[in-house]
Amino acid sequence: MSLSQPINTVLRKIPAWTIYIVCAAWTVWMFYLGLTGGLGVEPINALEREYGELALKLMVVGLLVTPLRNWTGVNLLRFRRAIGLSAFFLVLAHFLVWAVLDVQSLGRVWTEIVKRPYVTVGMLAFVLLIPLALTSNDLSIRKLGAATWRKLHKLTYPAAVLGAVHYLWLVKGFQIEPLIYLGVIIGLVALRVKWKQRSRAMA
Ligand code: HEM
Repeated sequence: MSLSQPINTVLRKIPAWTIYIVCAAWTVWMFYLGLTGGLGVEPINALEREYGELALKLMVVGLLVTPLRNWTGVNLLRFRRAIGLSAFFLVLAHFLVWAVLDVQSLGRVWTEIVKRPYVTVGMLAFVLLIPLALTSNDLSIRKLGAATWRKLHKLTYPAAVLGAVHYLWLVKGFQIEPLIYLGVIIGLVALRVKWKQRSRAMA
């Protein structure tokens, strides 16, 4: 018996909504820490960063679901929707903390989006995630048809690349973390393209 079987048995017992609860609790906890001085001297900036980083991590985990199943047999497919939607809500929280608590003016929000390339790229990633979030439900799959729905959900890949470019662009000086995110995401996109080409060649 492979190791993936007992892991999948345990995973089947965990309801997918656990992901929403854990992410929501973490988001509220971070906000609370920000309010009570637990996030240092610049709580708004720290909160913005915490939300942005977890959003990117969840996007990577979402992209890893299929390779993980193909390579190891560990099946996280049941959790993919919850992972993707939680990533979207965290990007939304990241955006709202920035716009409402940090920038605090609608006019300046627009100016910043247009003026700062790293914000423009982040915004583009966010915009790409909106149709994905709106159609992450069974009704949309039925209405759009599975093939169209799958095509639409390929937007996950450019959204993740843009999210990582946004991170790389905003850091000052050389930092390894954003490079790792970008490298992993580009690797996963390349893998996806390779698998697609192979399945086309075999068809
Ligand atoms: C998929 C979308 C997005 C992802 C994955 C993302 C991710 C991130 C990450 C990882 C960071 C750095 C965190 C750290 O330093 O530890 C960050 C910072 C930042 N993001 Fe985003 N972001 C996204 C969208 C946006 C949007 C839509 C905006 C605003 C329009 C935005 C504005 C910012 C700003 C201003 C910072 C820098 C905060 C600072 O001053 O340090 N991001 N983001």
